[in-house]
Amino acid sequence: MYDYKIEATDKATLYSDLALALEGLVAGEPDGIANMANAAALIWESLPDINWVGFYRNIDGELVLGPFQGRPACIRIPFGTGVCGAAAQTRQVQRVDDVHAFPGHIACDSASNSEIVVPLVRDGELLGVLDIDSPKHARFDAEDEAGVVRLGEILAKAI
Ligand code: SME
Repeated sequence: MYDYKIEATDKATLYSDLALALEGLVAGEPDGIANMANAAALIWESLPDINWVGFYRNIDGELVLGPFQGRPACIRIPFGTGVCGAAAQTRQVQRVDDVHAFPGHIACDSASNSEIVVPLVRDGELLGVLDIDSPKHARFDAEDEAGVVRLGEILAKAI
């Protein structure tokens, strides 16, 4: 039983608390699916104004849905398609203020308006992506990006 309650007033503290909690949650557990599932739950509970958080895994060059919180989502996304596919293809973080203006955006939940996707890379291999959606426009700023990238670094070692 884990009881994490992260209630920081500023983003820097929020993300450093979140990174510490995530490190604790995955410590010593070799099962990647279990770690992704707990990570999705922790982020879902901790970040305000989000409506989806979860993983797409790189399975033979295609993104396949992994553990998540939120509404049921599209299962398979080709590299290069939508925000997740762009992150997978370029291995660059995609931080999108208005997903409706993003070419090829895949609307899994019509409530989503902004999104951040972080590629998860270990030893030069793309393992998958961490995707977070928000109903607010421009929900994710540079501080969020730094914080989510840090979570991605922890996860790339744990999945
Ligand atoms: N909107 C994403 C698809 C995944 S869902 O948001 C869960 C995209 O365009 O890649």
